[in-house]
Amino acid sequence: MSMLPIPVILDCDPGHDDVMAILLAAYSKELDLKAITTVSGNGPIDKVTQNALRFCTLAGLGNIPIAQGATHPLIGQSHAATEIHGESALDGVDLPASTIVLSQLSAVQLMASIIADSPAPVTIIATGPLTNVAQLLTNHPELHSRIRSISIMGGGTERGNWRPLAEFNIWFDPEAADIVFSSGLDIHLCGLNITHQVLITPEIFLRLENIDSHLSRRIVPLMKFFAHAYDTTFNMPEPPLHDPIAVLMVSRPELFTFAHVPVAIEKDGTHTRGATVIDLHGVTNTPKNAYVAIGLDVPAFWDLMIDAVAAISE
Ligand code: RIB
Ligand code: CA
Repeated sequence: MSMLPIPVILDCDPGHDDVMAILLAAYSKELDLKAITTVSGNGPIDKVTQNALRFCTLAGLGNIPIAQGATHPLIGQSHAATEIHGESALDGVDLPASTIVLSQLSAVQLMASIIADSPAPVTIIATGPLTNVAQLLTNHPELHSRIRSISIMGGGTERGNWRPLAEFNIWFDPEAADIVFSSGLDIHLCGLNITHQVLITPEIFLRLENIDSHLSRRIVPLMKFFAHAYDTTFNMPEPPLHDPIAVLMVSRPELFTFAHVPVAIEKDGTHTRGATVIDLHGVTNTPKNAYVAIGLDVPAFWDLMIDAVAAISE
């Protein structure tokens, strides 16, 4: 029996891996992508929003509403990841001018409207800092029962990236992450322990180049920029494609192994602020508040990701 597609909202900070998450979400028949919302993270809000509008124009995804969200974290200022994503937050190719009109609603307003009106509970997929999601949960407690799940790319069971023990999305807004992880809602988390297994290798580049479509001819240079940035910054010539994994957790959960465990967000540590403290062995006797990915069928992901790029024409 075919299940009805799951209504999802993708909250992102495009971002090279974010745009690949957009493609996978739009392509996945298990999902109904209701909206894309943007949040300051990889770049300032105006840049990541322009990137979402221009990339969706390129990919022919003009039918998906796009709304702009938070300009900065709940506490403190923005920190663009220009080392990884460049000045535009999506360097590597000249994207077409946008033909999509940005929603008049804010990200939180659009999220709330979709969730309130949806006949079925909505899943939020978050591939950037959790500022918008935290504001939604805080401002709309009446909608919590209409949220099916929150699927997050962030943190990890081992080391960090932006800080030695903190991953960028969580580090950017730890207060927001704490609100989300304390919400009591269903949370699925894919961290660096998983996404660092999902590497754009020369073989993946060849598969992308062999598609040879209007879209793939722009995806390849984007990913080449991303690879060079990762090589220069982290000495990783094969970059991890983080964000589409948060989409895959919703569309194909059977490809994962999850551990239902306590996850705490460090907000105060001098050297550890932004860390996800994941209690894999239950030593803290605290509530199990998240399903944390600890295994993934990586080849199956790549087959779906390549199919998504090939299937979505200009
Ligand atoms: O740490 C990786 C995450 O931070 C990804 O979502 C990437 O796009 C950046 O937002
Ligand atoms: Ca991102």
